[in-house]
Amino acid sequence: MRTFLLSVMALVATVLALRATADDFEAWLDNEGQVAVERLNLNISAPQTHRGSILASPSQHDPNYYFYWVRDGAMVMRAIFDRVAAGDANAVSQFKDYVAFTRENQEVAATSPYGLGDPRFNVDGNLDTLPWGRPQNDGPALRAITMIRYARSLLAHGDRASVERDLYLAEMPARTVIKTDLEFVAHHWQDRCIDLWEENMGHHFFTEAAQMVAMKEGSALALEMNDPAAAKFYGDQASALELELAKHWDASKGYYLSAIDFSSTPDHAKPTQLDVSVLLAALFVEQPSGLLSLTDDHIIKTAEALESMFGALYPINAAHSDLGTAIGRYKEDVYYGGNPWILTTAAFAEWNYRMAGAIASSKHFVLTGVQADYITRALAQASMTSVVSANMNLAADEHLRAQAVAALKLRGDAFMKRIRQAAGVTGYLAEQFDLKTGEMLSARDLSWSYAAFMRASEARAELH
Ligand code: NOJ
Ligand code: NOJ
Repeated sequence: MRTFLLSVMALVATVLALRATADDFEAWLDNEGQVAVERLNLNISAPQTHRGSILASPSQHDPNYYFYWVRDGAMVMRAIFDRVAAGDANAVSQFKDYVAFTRENQEVAATSPYGLGDPRFNVDGNLDTLPWGRPQNDGPALRAITMIRYARSLLAHGDRASVERDLYLAEMPARTVIKTDLEFVAHHWQDRCIDLWEENMGHHFFTEAAQMVAMKEGSALALEMNDPAAAKFYGDQASALELELAKHWDASKGYYLSAIDFSSTPDHAKPTQLDVSVLLAALFVEQPSGLLSLTDDHIIKTAEALESMFGALYPINAAHSDLGTAIGRYKEDVYYGGNPWILTTAAFAEWNYRMAGAIASSKHFVLTGVQADYITRALAQASMTSVVSANMNLAADEHLRAQAVAALKLRGDAFMKRIRQAAGVTGYLAEQFDLKTGEMLSARDLSWSYAAFMRASEARAELH
């Protein structure tokens, strides 16, 4: 009897402890979500900067990120758009400022030899004339995708007038922001350019993915805005870009090569071309199906290759724990010693949550072998007993579906816990964390880190 009681008490204690950890984690997520919004807001229309511009980070030395980067801005506003959609009044006014600033920024960029491919501007909105890796043609494509989402929400609310005034008007030369970006993308996607990490010249998966989706979604918007010739032209570019993207698949390596036809500078050699930017692209463009969709076999294979590579690369990943793998940019990275980053680790959380979401909401989900293998591993990690295999329809078995969704959600949570560990008590997020000690490194309060955390949290929240 006594032993029985003791074991019951022990069981109750374990259950309570598990509950406490779960509650702690939920509480941390809520708190970190607030910290992210507060700290990010400080970087948007910051004092002494142009209204509507976004600081990459307030850090002015080691490194100096006190600039407006078009790419970082689009990443941030993509996360802010979720808040616009949720009816946050502050986010709505931030978006309006961003649109107004973009109009001016496009005019300033037109005076640069790189046009809209100029990646970085001074905080007062003027051209940055320091030597830098130019052009970087992902910026206008990312921005167009973000703005198209905003335009669609205005159209859905019957506000066609605002769209025609600021975002898309069928006229040439273009003066509205989306049309201006789409024209640039349509005429420049064939050019080699510098990648999102600002290092190497070539044709990049990340850049082409953004360009393809900007052209595809731009084509649909053009049609809706009575611009059929442009719709056809953009649609043709999207089809051509899709073929370019497919060329990045390396069947022998089993992942997408981040660049083809590239020339590395000696400091930035990247023989593997295995780079997290492939997953970042797929997350950003959020395609429900096709080659960039988050459950596509080739995306899963690339993400798996990245996770196992980083798992072996960073000492911090060696310790056995319930924390997800700390993820960096690519294996050969030497920037600040080549560490894991917050935004890339958050991307793995987001990816698992969004796969869970896709499975939870689908009417028909017949597993491929690659998907089945990934989910099998997730189930095993979660100590769940269900077994999945190729050709099973997850949507036809509610128990199995629920287990798969729960297991993927737990995988996502593990990456968020890795971020919690790095974030420490303040919850402030820098760019990187040390590969050995986990200490925050490089630019403090990186806007993109907060945006990536917010996107991952949003994906998790959409699960229930
Ligand atoms: C080299 C880094 O790898 C790159 O990502 C960064 O943008 C530039 N230096 C400038 O800091
Ligand atoms: C370095 C990163 O490599 C690049 O992608 C980013 O735009 C800048 N830092 C600013 O955050």
